Amino acid sequence: MNNVTKIRVNASGCYDILLGSGILQEIGKAVSERFSKCSIAILSDDKVFPIYGETVMESLRNEGFTVTSYVIPNGEASKNLDTLTGFINHMADAHITRTDAVLALGGGVVGDMAGFAASIFLRGIKYIQVPTTLLAAVDSSVGGKTAVDISAGKNLIGAFHQPSLVYCDSDTLQTLDPSVLRDGFAEVIKYGVILDKDLFQVVSRPGQADINIVIARCISIKRDVVEADEFDRGMRGLLNFGHTLGHAIEKQSNYTVTHGSAVAKGMVIAARIGAAYGMPDYTEEISRVLVDYGFDITCPYNAEQLYAAALSDKKRSGSDITLILPREMGACSLEKMPATRVLELLKQIGL
Ligand code: NAD
Ligand code: GLY
Repeated sequence: MNNVTKIRVNASGCYDILLGSGILQEIGKAVSERFSKCSIAILSDDKVFPIYGETVMESLRNEGFTVTSYVIPNGEASKNLDTLTGFINHMADAHITRTDAVLALGGGVVGDMAGFAASIFLRGIKYIQVPTTLLAAVDSSVGGKTAVDISAGKNLIGAFHQPSLVYCDSDTLQTLDPSVLRDGFAEVIKYGVILDKDLFQVVSRPGQADINIVIARCISIKRDVVEADEFDRGMRGLLNFGHTLGHAIEKQSNYTVTHGSAVAKGMVIAARIGAAYGMPDYTEEISRVLVDYGFDITCPYNAEQLYAAALSDKKRSGSDITLILPREMGACSLEKMPATRVLELLKQIGL
């Protein structure tokens, strides 16, 4: 295939990430090179499937795969156990076996759910990620974190299960709502702050950077982090910059604030906490870029509300919470502290 960037991930499962423009109709060939002929159960949502479903199914069928599809309502509200059960029943009805595969066609919601379904169906089958949002392309489709939400909190039921292929056609981003595209930039900016100050500079002016180069850079950073700490026992925690408080905001809003928008707010709060904690103050630098992208960086919740929601975050260990705070641009540190200290800091910054 022409103009395809290939990035290899060597984790408990080794796989290729293929990235290019206008490559969706060739997905069948890429799958065929890596999978024996089998049945593939596609999970997608009701916005993505009508646009891209037929292209993917036809390409797979042309290569001899048997394809079924299960389409769920779009949005975070679908990322739950009921939807998961529906998809699993679909796979059972379609006689999916251990040598068959799941394919996630969509954003992070579909990707997280399809990956989790693949991790538990028949004690684990292969799956393919086909990310169609910027957030999924740069973050959720890579690294094998899969999950669903429950009422107690976000992503509280899940598993580590690496995909067998990630196939990203960046042209699919052209049909995104601008606000969804912007959400993806929250994660891109996150990579810049935590590990790559050059990337932060490159993306600091909206609309200037080549999207394929940006996606490839983010994927490479994530690949390096996942290879160093696949099971999130140390430095993978850096990827949670803005997420502990972001998840708290998502939960408090009953998921009406989207993940990317919540992460943007969470990054600003983390920068402010960093300054209150005695680290250099990057609030202005990070806020300016986020505002230029059009993010609303205000937080509608007070310290107690955020603290209550953060207590059910899966990143809490015992009575401690680890916050990711900027030490310098492109270098953050993991700061483990008693949860009550987080409450104090939230109050100290005026929330
Ligand atoms: P999403 O999957 O809900 O997609 C956002 C919206 O865009 C949906 O309405 C969807 O239908 C629509 N859409 C998707 N692709 C489209 C396209 N090409 N054209 C038109 N519309 C399209 O949300 P998201 O922002 O992609 O992902 C957020 C989820 O990802 C959250 O649940 C979050 O927890 C999860 N996440 C997981 C990881 C991980 O490592 N597993 C990392 C970051 C985020
Ligand atoms: N998105 C956070 C992680 O993959 O660890």
